[in-house]
Amino acid sequence: MTTGAVQPKLIIHGGAGSSLKDKGGLEAVRGSLHTIIEEVYGILMQGASATEAVVRGCKLLEDEPRFNAGTGSVLQSDGQIRMSAALMDGTLQRFSGTINVSRVKNPIDLALFLQNSPDRVLSDFGSAELLRELQLPIHNPLTDKRLQEWMEERKDNFSRSMANVVAESSGRGTIGVVVLDHEGKIAAGTSTGGKGFERIGRVSDSAMPAGNYANSKAGISCTGIGEDIIDECLAARIVVRVTDGLSLMNAFERSFTEAERNKRDFGAIGIDATGAIAWGKTCEVILCAYHTGDRIGDALEMSPEMGVGIA
Ligand code: GLY
Repeated sequence: MTTGAVQPKLIIHGGAGSSLKDKGGLEAVRGSLHTIIEEVYGILMQGASATEAVVRGCKLLEDEPRFNAGTGSVLQSDGQIRMSAALMDGTLQRFSGTINVSRVKNPIDLALFLQNSPDRVLSDFGSAELLRELQLPIHNPLTDKRLQEWMEERKDNFSRSMANVVAESSGRGTIGVVVLDHEGKIAAGTSTGGKGFERIGRVSDSAMPAGNYANSKAGISCTGIGEDIIDECLAARIVVRVTDGLSLMNAFERSFTEAERNKRDFGAIGIDATGAIAWGKTCEVILCAYHTGDRIGDALEMSPEMGVGIA
């Protein structure tokens, strides 16, 4: 058990989209998310820091082929997998990330290493060099399912603009973790295989402060269409609103009302320093689950309309 004064809080997501069907259905997704919540909350109760817990959660989600990050990432237009991940330590207000990296099991490991580097965001070439330097084992994140999806799309001569990966049926798959630890410290992490079928060199929001941001007041991880998240600068926008005095719920409500008006397609999860946990979406479903300290819950059966929730 922790000796800290603060009750740890945890929220995770495995993407957003239009349906849970291709993810194995409601119970399968719930099972995956709740198992990961239990493991990560367990290490928080043993005294893990917010950053340690975020990295553990991201790795577990990256290793779950159901979700579009790490193993199970979608393929880009040229049939290659390129992944992006970011980590933000809210106490240090320090962002690090890797963009379009290949052949690694856990892109979040690179973001963790870069937290203590003078160069904190690396693109594809630099990320590949860092993998070599760190001597991380080569890993092929391709799954049969993702290859089949790509082959199907090829048959149609790429008539659809993005991969058919539900709940990322319009390329909305990502994973993310936000934590408040026993010392009241916040961290956020996000990792993705991208939209699927994107142009080579396209940069995801997940390794930008638009998609993953934290300070001492709040932390946010986003999922959805990266271009929409960037246009709203969603993660930083919500964190700044909380920093300026809005409650987490009000910051979510205001940001998602604006997003709906602007016809954006995404979701987000967050935690603030008071221990409030929130989620929001403009699309039909957000695959998120949380631990309040008293109970595990999720938003898998939330109504399909735009909405926000709090725990
Ligand atoms: N949000 C993930 C992406 O658009 O790449």
